[in-house]
Amino acid sequence: MAKKPFQRIIFALDLPTLNDALKYVELLKCSVGLFKIGLELFIAAGPMAIEAVKKAAPGCGIFLDLKLHDIPATVTGAMTTASELGERAGVDFVTVHCDDGGPLLKAAVEAASLDSATGHGLRVLGVTVLTSMSAEAMVEAGIDIKRFPTPPDLVLHRAAIASKAGCAGVICSPLEAQAVKEANPGLLVITPGIRSADAPADDQRRTATPYEAVKAGADYIVVGRPIREAENPVKAAALIASEIERALKERDPSLL
Ligand code: C5P
Repeated sequence: MAKKPFQRIIFALDLPTLNDALKYVELLKCSVGLFKIGLELFIAAGPMAIEAVKKAAPGCGIFLDLKLHDIPATVTGAMTTASELGERAGVDFVTVHCDDGGPLLKAAVEAASLDSATGHGLRVLGVTVLTSMSAEAMVEAGIDIKRFPTPPDLVLHRAAIASKAGCAGVICSPLEAQAVKEANPGLLVITPGIRSADAPADDQRRTATPYEAVKAGADYIVVGRPIREAENPVKAAALIASEIERALKERDPSLL
């Protein structure tokens, strides 16, 4: 679907208090499309964070990055509550880990009760393999590397499970975006791990630039530190939006 390039930026509100987060919401509400409320802010401020962000930026979407991972009954309960909350507060996406396979994802999708006719309910995104995970870390985590020699092999496997379970999309690194999109054209592809080519090393491992991510097939990119720690976050977001625009012009101008 066509969108303005900046609307494809999900800014991660990885901040310790709601007050800190709201300062960034005020600053960036015309520069990004969605705000990500993840574990740090949700644990600090709870559902109130969603309502406050939405009130401060009614034109922006909410990406609730809960990364649920538990037995299906518990995830069903959490997702039912999240779905009611999302309906009230206007949440667009919620995340669930893919590691446990189809039954857990199916339970999450059912409890999110998205009605495709009315658009009510929550869109579930499957987190395939964290962008901080390297091939070495996969070995340490006990992944069968004969079957899944590299992170992209595991990402593709999990994306297929997420698609079958009815997820609206998946989270993967930009390095897998193209393969995931080609194998699952109907899935939204959302990529964190966004870094400029000369960025200093940090915890992210499978990274690429905004241009590379969107050129490869990302529908949205999740960006935290490159905007939050920039001297001028509004300018940093604008630069990212211009890279997105350049990538979409080359990939598919009808998406602009
Ligand atoms: O600061 P940075 O740009 O690395 O932030 C990336 C954001 O994307 C963080 O909020 C992180 O929780 C989130 N994320 C990720 N990898 C995933 C899923 C979400 O980095 N697989």
